[in-house]
Amino acid sequence: MKKEFSKLYARGGWKRGDGETASGAGSTLQYTEQIRNELPALFAKYAVKTLLDAPCGDFNWFSHIDVGAMDYIGMDIVDAMVADNTRKYGSRQRRFISGDASTTPLPKADMLLCRDLMRHIKLEASLDVLRNFVRSGTPWLLATSYVVRHNADIEKNFGSRPINLMIEPFFLPKPRLKIYDSIEGFRKRYLCLWSREEVEAALARSATARTARIDAGARSLDALYDEITAFQATREKLSGGSRRDETLVMLEAIRELIKAMGAEVN
Ligand SMILES: C[S@@+](CC[C@H](N)C(=O)[O-])C[C@H]1O[C@@H](n2cnc3c(N)ncnc32)[C@H](O)[C@@H]1O
Repeated sequence: MKKEFSKLYARGGWKRGDGETASGAGSTLQYTEQIRNELPALFAKYAVKTLLDAPCGDFNWFSHIDVGAMDYIGMDIVDAMVADNTRKYGSRQRRFISGDASTTPLPKADMLLCRDLMRHIKLEASLDVLRNFVRSGTPWLLATSYVVRHNADIEKNFGSRPINLMIEPFFLPKPRLKIYDSIEGFRKRYLCLWSREEVEAALARSATARTARIDAGARSLDALYDEITAFQATREKLSGGSRRDETLVMLEAIRELIKAMGAEVN
């Protein structure tokens, strides 16, 4: 995913209109007015002394927030953007680092802001971001969640569709609080706050649901296998021959694969 996002940044990013920001239409000053107004109070309420913002994008809207003495660490997968941010905005209080939020060990902070990332990456990579957050020991997660009924997956880690963190495969509970993060003409979405414990429990629910899905798949396949075997037996009896059906061979292979998946998940 690093290659695709880096290429996009090299082409100027998700620029729109007057090219105000490389991070897309959701990162302009107009779009972020409400969150820019509300975030300082939220940071104060949760005593955030160090914030990890992953992904930080080009830091366009965040550079307009007065966060007082708070330390800020911005992480993004695009090295060139991190270098540009460091040159433009870096200071002792503001650091920018390169990293993949789904795999790079995250520095421990008081809160992880994960805005507008998961809709661009695969569901499994998004679950990895949540696992990575839990491992980091950071107590609070503030992340983007849309209002949709189904979370579709995408082919690769470089696409776009709305993601709801409160339904399968994420299963996060109702957030402690949420800030409306959209404007007219765009889909409804919120920045939602969860504790590390809530995210950890949701990941356990996600793993249980995955095992159940695999078990159900294995059961349907067993039933299909039995049906085909019975059909084959009848056909053989009628024709008097014995011919191994390729479908059965394929099903056996799939059955073995599903067994292996189940073993891996458990
Ligand atoms: C739509 S922008 C949002 C940036 C920022 N959060 C904001 O609100 O303006 C998405 C950003 O995610 C970065 N990105 C994509 N995949 C990433 C990953 N796995 N880890 C860290 N950053 C990633 C991209 O380079 C891009 O800067």
